[in-house]
Amino acid sequence: MKLLLTEDGSHTIYSEHFDEIYHSRRGALTESQHVFIQSGLAALDTKEMSIFEVGFGTGLNALLSWIYAGQQGLKVHYTGVELYPVSKEILNEINLASLFPGHEEKFHKLHQARWGETIVFDDHFSLHKLQGSLTDCTIPDGQDLVYFDAFSPDKQPELWSAEIFHKIYDSMNPGAVLVTYCSKGYVRRNMQEAGFMIEKLPGPPGKREMVRARKPL
Ligand SMILES: C[S@@+](CC[C@H](N)C(=O)[O-])C[C@H]1O[C@@H](n2cnc3c(N)ncnc32)[C@H](O)[C@@H]1O
Repeated sequence: MKLLLTEDGSHTIYSEHFDEIYHSRRGALTESQHVFIQSGLAALDTKEMSIFEVGFGTGLNALLSWIYAGQQGLKVHYTGVELYPVSKEILNEINLASLFPGHEEKFHKLHQARWGETIVFDDHFSLHKLQGSLTDCTIPDGQDLVYFDAFSPDKQPELWSAEIFHKIYDSMNPGAVLVTYCSKGYVRRNMQEAGFMIEKLPGPPGKREMVRARKPL
């Protein structure tokens, strides 16, 4: 793994193993804010929710969710699955915590949290990190929001299959939402096959579209 500076000044990671970067080169923070916070978390109309993230990675989506939950008075129960945890060396150098003065400690707490344990950090945010693959893990029932942030379907087609979307769908409450940066046609068809209703939304800088999928009520 190597650090990369993206156009909005936030770091992301390049994975040599997948020959893929974790976020958009146009801005890691900008992309996460747009796809997961503004189009996902901010679009829910409840004060308490369970969130499941595919690919915990740098913890950026968890950090943004925790900060947002505190600002809006929400209560978030966050579960993230990750097969390849980011190394301590990279986490020591990545600049994501420093982008949020006053919240730096949150970033460190997210990463210090032990895998496989639920940790209640404060009134607004609890975390359960699952180490393993999305393909094998048990997703806790009752999810209200899913951040689908796997590597692209070109690199990991097995994670974007109808079977995987079925598994996620089954863990979600009626009316729950899944957001992802990818809007490829066959990915949308796989989501529809699993039962989701699809909405295409404007993407973050550099991407025309993203997807918000909803489990019908
Ligand atoms: C596009 S990156 C996004 C990471 C994270 N959401 C972030 O903002 O840093 C995709 C993530 O999925 C993880 N991943 C790859 N294969 C996986 C699998 N089979 N199950 C769970 N996570 C996986 C990668 O290690 C990486 O952290």
